[in-house]
Amino acid sequence: MKTQFAARTTRTLGVFLPTALLVGLAALLMGSSPATLKTYVGSKVEIKARVTLFLSTQCPVSKVYAPRIAALEREFRPQGVKFTGVFSNVQESQPEIWAFTQSHHLSFANMKDADGHLAAKYGATMTPQVFVEGPSGKILYRGRIDDSADTSQVHTHDLADALKAIVAGRSVSRPETVAFGCIIRRPAAAVASSQITYSHDVAPILQRQCVTCHRAGEIGPMPLNSFAQASAWRGDIKRYTQSHQMPPWKADPGAGEFQDARRLTSKELTTLASWVDSGAPEGDPKDLPAPVHYTEGWPLGQPDMVLQPDRAYHVEADGADVYRCYVIPTDFAQDRYVSAVDVQPGNRTVVHHVIAFIDGSGASIGKDGHEKEPGYTSFGGVGFTPTGALGGWAPGMTPHYLPPGVATQVPAGARIVLQVHYHKDGKPETDLSRVGLYFAKGPTDKTVHVIPMIHGLEIPPGDSHYTVTTVSAPSPLNYHLIAITPHMHWLGRQIKATATLPGGKKIPLISISDWDFNWQNTYIYKEPLALPKGTTITMTATYDNSAKNLKNPNSPPKMVTWGEATTDEMCIAFLHYTLDREHLGAKEARAK
Ligand code: HEC
Repeated sequence: MKTQFAARTTRTLGVFLPTALLVGLAALLMGSSPATLKTYVGSKVEIKARVTLFLSTQCPVSKVYAPRIAALEREFRPQGVKFTGVFSNVQESQPEIWAFTQSHHLSFANMKDADGHLAAKYGATMTPQVFVEGPSGKILYRGRIDDSADTSQVHTHDLADALKAIVAGRSVSRPETVAFGCIIRRPAAAVASSQITYSHDVAPILQRQCVTCHRAGEIGPMPLNSFAQASAWRGDIKRYTQSHQMPPWKADPGAGEFQDARRLTSKELTTLASWVDSGAPEGDPKDLPAPVHYTEGWPLGQPDMVLQPDRAYHVEADGADVYRCYVIPTDFAQDRYVSAVDVQPGNRTVVHHVIAFIDGSGASIGKDGHEKEPGYTSFGGVGFTPTGALGGWAPGMTPHYLPPGVATQVPAGARIVLQVHYHKDGKPETDLSRVGLYFAKGPTDKTVHVIPMIHGLEIPPGDSHYTVTTVSAPSPLNYHLIAITPHMHWLGRQIKATATLPGGKKIPLISISDWDFNWQNTYIYKEPLALPKGTTITMTATYDNSAKNLKNPNSPPKMVTWGEATTDEMCIAFLHYTLDREHLGAKEARAK
């Protein structure tokens, strides 16, 4: 996944407005150049190289490299290598930088480059980006730290190799590599000729569509809830919204009307773009919308029952994403009916999404409990066929009740299996995610059934347009479709499902033309769709197994078939539905 991460976070180059102003230690440390320094053991060591590292507190790539940087510094400091961290982004404050270097154990000189003058001096454009100078000040190496943000995919240790050579008095065999990460942000130019301002027009859009994830403690890599932040990120705000990468919402417009759809209107898109194009003026802070207060806790009120693993999971500082499953017994003596579910991630900076499955068959027994850490690791799915699904959480999702009279049945003795996708953030974290159940209060007339539509796969290496289509048998009964969950892995590019009614009328159920494994969702229809007896469903999915697919986990590409592993594929659309003829007459007793 190396190239994928690199490609996803690599940006075009920025330009700087160099003036001259340095903060705090900066002048002291960079201005004077003592020939020797005291090492931590107190002996005098001749300085053989100076490493200037451009870093950012907000850049995900800079974060995941922090443990590697700390380790390199520990290794080379006794050999006469002096590291200095430089933070040139205009929007990152001194306290944020301090907190970042403390929490990531970067125990060398770190400084804010308030006016971008160091970035300009070195020609730094990205974070992380490294410049190694010899004692004479000559640049001996410039570029990346190594070749992959994912530690399991590193093949060349570029910075370490350069330092080894310099310390040994050899010449550096590869003095320049291309840095990847996030561009360094420059201050906004002071032109304010337009009517569109941050305070009046832009802040309300960001507040509605972005700040749910882009604020402190949430999954978005930087906050977007102040003028300083929005202005620093203005170029990317335009680019990411115009390309529909942000807000993340993969369902194409026109195929299904979904709850909580995150989509900017064309007017909002134009407002954001015009604001950026006209120099991103602030306007009058009096025009700002009232700040939103995010409620901590359960938006639907205290659940009737809260289930969680028996202890917290430790998420390592770096490495590939982890899919961890926790088996939680329910101990229900009788079948229970659940009309709403709220999954609460324990640690929002590392939890990417959570899915709660039901295991009514006992297949999950014995999977958990073998490791020191709670749960077990399983990519993509839970490693067995669940008997149902309760729902899930992804950033920005809010819990909802099922339609009146409709509930999900959790059989007596069932287990809930929580699958949590963790995305590492460069420092060790812990997580204890939990799921709250709201039992049906009135009579339950219908239960939600889940059936997967699947298609087998044999995707030849090099095929960039492998397409499969499957058509279901005509449904024997009238039903209502409540939600749909498409599922593929890294090679998936497009997936589409369409219902064909007995008379031939077609209803698009979902269409995703830019599949992203990281942004999977259960898409819940605003109104359940009535699908009469005889309806067929056609599912079409396209995969790219060429080397050009940056997300291809196999390098070189190889034959890929169905399976649970990261390097395997799947082709599924889970259909969540109720049967029109089902009338349980069952009454769910209040939770005791
Ligand atoms: C559901 C959560 C969520 C919402 C809503 C959201 N973002 Fe993001 N955003 C993320 C995450 C997570 C990332 C990190 C990259 C990724 O995982 O795709 C990101 C990345 C970005 C980046 C790239 C950051 C970088 O490191 O270069 C920009 C720019 C951005 N978002 C802007 C926006 C804007 C503007 C909006 C609103 C119109 C928005 N986002 C809404 C979660 C969200």
